[in-house]
Amino acid sequence: MEKFIVTGGVQLNGCVQVSGAKNAALPIMAATLLSHGLTVLHDVPELRDIAMMQNIMKLLGASVVREGHTLVIDTVAVTGTDIPEALMREMRASVFLLGPLLGRFHQVRLSYPGGCAIGPRPINLHIKALEKLGAHIKEGSGYIDAEAKKLVGNEITFDFPSVGATENAMMAAVLAEGTTVIRNAAREPEIVDLQNFFNSMGGRVGGAGTDCIFIRGVKSLHSTEYQIMPDRIEAGTLLIATAMTGGNVIIGNINHACLFSVMDKLQEIGSVIECRGNAIRIKAENLRRGVDIKTLPYPGFPTDLQAPMLSLLTIAKGTSIISETIFENRFKHVDELTRMGAKIKVEGRTAVIRGVDALSGTCVAAPDLRAGGALVLAGLVAAGTTIVDEVYHIDRGYERLEEKLNSLGAIILRK
Ligand code: EPZ
Repeated sequence: MEKFIVTGGVQLNGCVQVSGAKNAALPIMAATLLSHGLTVLHDVPELRDIAMMQNIMKLLGASVVREGHTLVIDTVAVTGTDIPEALMREMRASVFLLGPLLGRFHQVRLSYPGGCAIGPRPINLHIKALEKLGAHIKEGSGYIDAEAKKLVGNEITFDFPSVGATENAMMAAVLAEGTTVIRNAAREPEIVDLQNFFNSMGGRVGGAGTDCIFIRGVKSLHSTEYQIMPDRIEAGTLLIATAMTGGNVIIGNINHACLFSVMDKLQEIGSVIECRGNAIRIKAENLRRGVDIKTLPYPGFPTDLQAPMLSLLTIAKGTSIISETIFENRFKHVDELTRMGAKIKVEGRTAVIRGVDALSGTCVAAPDLRAGGALVLAGLVAAGTTIVDEVYHIDRGYERLEEKLNSLGAIILRK
């Protein structure tokens, strides 16, 4: 199993570009199944989750060819609507196939996507939305069987602004008969990207980015060429890494409007941040003040940056409190950070962090994607060397994170 050997005590300086966003590319790849043509997607990051989605699409009959960061997808020959359990278990995001396969074939059978390290990950909101559009869904013995004579537009109101459920509802509604209104919709930028993708194929979707999205069903969607938005979570991780190590870094190819909540917290901590065009410059002072963080649906502080931010707060002055309101079990990085000398107490969904002067390098293991990223950042500031094992978790969602950090002055060896 590959690991990272991270040398501590570095400072990050220079310029770095972020990759395309995993959490925009995955639903958009699934959405290509709604058209019968050729779709060209640019800036698709090379990640394990993306490769897994490619495998599922190929199994369904699509041709998916990668040319660098471009995917050429041909869905003419797609006939499959049954996704085997092994592939479903591999990746939670396969639940995104519910909407498009229902939208195109009016039937789909997939095994329950199951939970993952950060929580049980139910799909009740996905199912409620699809039933509102006319789907009949049976769940049992680990499988979901969905079918619909036809999908008809309707009003959907979510109990919680679920990102995936909002995206699945959009994908099922875009070819439905009539108009769909989704209320209490998730407002994440990746949902705006999905809307823009649909509209580039002749879809008629509006309101994404607000809590009310409307979709006028169309008869079909045509081929398109589309550029995936930059990854705001990767950009936020690099900003936090710079704030931890000190230094002066410019992050290019990022829409800073997606990161207001993160930049605000980093300024409260003591960093100086400047936005210019599609770049963000962070100048990190050596003073790091402790702050309180509460993760919330967008535009609140993103849960995907909770773990990297917790790493930073372990070496901030004073006491910080983090409340994780989105997922049930998203503090798996705490035990590993404690082994590096951090002082953290977790009660339920709240972590109390007492800043220490320094962490010490040791052997740790990445428990999940974002916790793995957090441990790499901790290794950058720890005294001595930190070995981060099970980096396959990190490769699921960060495209060659070690190369990006090394280009800024880190010393990370992948072994
Ligand atoms: C998406 O997951 C992202 N994944 C997650 O990123 C991200 O953390 C999350 O949104 C929140 O922003 C992708 O886009 C592939 P949710 P998703 O539905 O859609 C509960 C990463 O690290 N819920 O908004 O699964 C759920 O249990 C990943 O890149 C229900 O109760 O998130 C959770 O507590 C991790 N019933 C909360 O809502 C449902 O039917 C948020 O889930 C659906 C969700």
